[in-house]
Amino acid sequence: MNQAHESSRRTFLKNAALLTSAAAFPAFISKNSGDKVNLACIGIGNQGGLDVMSLYSTGLCNIVALCDVDMGAPQTLKVLEKFPDVPRFQDFRQLFDKMGNQFEAVSIGVPDHSHFPITMMALGMGKHVFVEKPMARTFHEVELMMAAARKHPNLVTQMGNQGHSEANYFQFKAWKEAGIIKDVTAMTAHMNSPRRWARVLVGAHSVACSMELLSMSCLT
Ligand SMILES: NC(=O)c1ccc[n+]([C@@H]2O[C@H](COP(=O)([O-])OP(=O)(O)OC[C@H]3O[C@@H](n4cnc5c(N)ncnc54)[C@H](O)[C@@H]3O)[C@@H](O)[C@H]2O)c1
Repeated sequence: MNQAHESSRRTFLKNAALLTSAAAFPAFISKNSGDKVNLACIGIGNQGGLDVMSLYSTGLCNIVALCDVDMGAPQTLKVLEKFPDVPRFQDFRQLFDKMGNQFEAVSIGVPDHSHFPITMMALGMGKHVFVEKPMARTFHEVELMMAAARKHPNLVTQMGNQGHSEANYFQFKAWKEAGIIKDVTAMTAHMNSPRRWARVLVGAHSVACSMELLSMSCLT
């Protein structure tokens, strides 16, 4: 892989990490289109549609296939209008069968219960995976997905979590890397929105739960 190619991929990774619903795809060789990542998008409705647009806006990936069971439904139109010539599928299995050798990565923005089968098929076919949160439906599914990812250390996987992908988190990472803060041993996260399950009620006030030792992995 030449230097310019590698640098471009790093840029994609960096830009993608700052998206509202971020995705990060790694250094891997794109066979068909220079240094861009060929991406198949499965679930192009609401959140999945935002993911497609965000990833495309980095300028570092080609959208090469679109898949949605409800292709043409109102929630899919924005993406369909943006990519009128991209092949469309309504069944992800057909997408993998027919175009499996034409892309390196998938974004998965379907409802929660389908994250598992699509991710497992993608990993089995050697694709990098960005899958929306929650990662899966059960702990068992998550364990199987993690085991499948470990079997393919060359593949990069990421669960989309916009709260962990926005600039606020990267600010602290930058501070730590610059030595402005050091020896971080704990982080406390606050959320004051009443719609969150994690809130704790104290008297008449709602306060966010404190997540001691929230993994530093969200910063790395
Ligand atoms: N990262 C975040 O912060 C964030 C925010 C909102 C939603 N989400 C997650 O994003 C995912 C999608 O959420 P949403 O609100 O957009 O759901 P949605 O139901 O509004 O849209 C899902 C889309 O996927 C399509 N679809 C359903 N099953 C499919 C399948 N098997 N194959 C292909 N397409 C399929 C639907 O037709 C629809 O267009 C969910 O897992 C949700 O939890 C994450």
